[in-house]
Amino acid sequence: MCGIVGYVGDKGTVDVLISGLKRQEYRGYDSAGIAVITHDGHISSAKKAGKLQALVDELAVRPVAAGATGIGHTRWATHGAPIDANAHPHLADGGKLALIHNGIIENYAEIRDEMLAAGHEFVSETDTEVAAVLVGHLVNSTGDLRTAFAQAVNRLQGAFTLLALHVDEPGLIVAARHNSPLIVGFGDGENFLGSDVAAFVAHTHRAAAVGQDQIVALTADSVTVTDFAGNPASLEEFEVAWDASASDKGGWPSFMAKEISENPDAVANTTRGRVVDGSVTIPELTELGDDYLRGVSRIIVVACGTASYAGLVGAYAIEQWARIPVDVQLSHEFRYREPVISADTLVVSISQSGETMDTLMAVKYASEHGAKTLSICNTQGATIPRESDAVIYTHAGPEVAVASTKAFVAQITALYLLGLHAARVRGTLDATELARNAAELEAIPAKLEQVLLTGSTVAQLAKWMSDTPAVLFLGRHVGFPIALEGALKLKELAYIHAEGFAAGELKHGPIALIDHGQPVFVIVPSPRKSEVIHAKVISNIQEIRARGARIIAIAEQGDAAVLPYADEVIQIPLADPLFEPFLAVLPLQMFAMELAHAKGLDVDQPRNLAKSVTVE
Ligand code: M6R
Repeated sequence: MCGIVGYVGDKGTVDVLISGLKRQEYRGYDSAGIAVITHDGHISSAKKAGKLQALVDELAVRPVAAGATGIGHTRWATHGAPIDANAHPHLADGGKLALIHNGIIENYAEIRDEMLAAGHEFVSETDTEVAAVLVGHLVNSTGDLRTAFAQAVNRLQGAFTLLALHVDEPGLIVAARHNSPLIVGFGDGENFLGSDVAAFVAHTHRAAAVGQDQIVALTADSVTVTDFAGNPASLEEFEVAWDASASDKGGWPSFMAKEISENPDAVANTTRGRVVDGSVTIPELTELGDDYLRGVSRIIVVACGTASYAGLVGAYAIEQWARIPVDVQLSHEFRYREPVISADTLVVSISQSGETMDTLMAVKYASEHGAKTLSICNTQGATIPRESDAVIYTHAGPEVAVASTKAFVAQITALYLLGLHAARVRGTLDATELARNAAELEAIPAKLEQVLLTGSTVAQLAKWMSDTPAVLFLGRHVGFPIALEGALKLKELAYIHAEGFAAGELKHGPIALIDHGQPVFVIVPSPRKSEVIHAKVISNIQEIRARGARIIAIAEQGDAAVLPYADEVIQIPLADPLFEPFLAVLPLQMFAMELAHAKGLDVDQPRNLAKSVTVE
């Protein structure tokens, strides 16, 4: 939920920290701060409530002094309101130690009492300051930051990534990871730490994910890793697959606008190399083995938010093609229902960040109960793929805007590839059908480019609707999860009450919401392959129109049946009905973004949200 960065080197520590925070601000943006050990050996720090810009403005007036060792933090508040005093870094040991934290320390109250009894004082309401004071206290008894830090992390419970520095060891940052991400960046005469590679990708592409319960000691020339017991551990280096420019706006007014425009690339890049001669083969699935896939009796998808809606879409395709029953469960509900799982249950987690705590816990639960786990993830080196038996990476590129767009279509792409791979292995589709569906998938990027051209129409519509208090979304079959996603995007970006419904459910209650002028988006399925479903949706439209609803239909080009009943029609290119979600979601993403623009809202950093939800 928070973004952290650490740097030891001579590049201009404050600049490195601020640019690392800028690229990680999507992780939390209610306060930010930095601390540097200055060249004359004291800590210079600044922190400010509000977005990172508030800290940057503060530094322009009261700069932090130069130094070669520093840490920075951007916060999503858990303990304590987003005010200056609760922002990180927290200082301890008479201002000689600074510490930042991502996560939640569950036993903070007990340690706080102990520290108060030992005569320490606190200036914030945070659990983080408790960790800072504890480390400072232990530095005084052990005389050494590394030893004190190791002792402290062994006392803490909950989820934490901690970074600390102390003036007595000016070229050193110590860091620890427990249930929260930490990545090392290897430079030349300089080294970095971050919550993700975005923290340092402008400086190095050489990275490694720190393992669970490991401690890192970072200097300009060395990176030493141990476990919490002090035993040496090693890191597995990987090459970051994208450039710093990929996480810049690149001339777009917002990250959201840029990322929506990248939907076609997200599908193309995720498909690339996985369809060969009309047949889908995902090399990463060899980790599971064909025999295992042939014997799978059930798939359970675990995910949250938008990723769970991608799972709902994928379930239709996997069931239809590979004939494996698929349940989609919200990660945070999954383990508490004591799910029935066994060795032939494949648990597929979906997570853009790969760090969502609820999903991570669901994956761990599944492994502990004997299931195989497969991660669909967009972030190299993230925790969830590391905890899984196999991973299919989506190649959507970095997604910076907090609300997910291109990662969603990339997740559906990965699920469709999984369905086609499994269908081939299990022999449930013949070669012609496999090739036809693979070709449909490969045709999606070009069709998405066409949908992007409806942007100005959608923007106009959003402007007209900027005063609307509530919007409903209806869909059937694969259109249902798209209705859910359309509603979520509108809630997140425009703070408008929005609900998505299965169109067939309408008359079981929600139709009572329909009143004169109520806007309703309807995702109309193609009549070409599923005449019955199409006819049912048209009759749903008639039912609500008769009660005063204002209909905005998303329908395929040439669907004349919808025209008499729709106030607005957004046309999408023809596609096999199973592939329509790719095309239908794009106008809904654009609509939510444009309506938020029309209301003057920040589309990249909506209120109260964080991109990566690393607390349960
Ligand atoms: O990183 P993840 O894909 O695991 O995140 C899951 C959800 O938190 C995420 O999709 C959330 O719903 C977004 N705000 C959607 O825009």
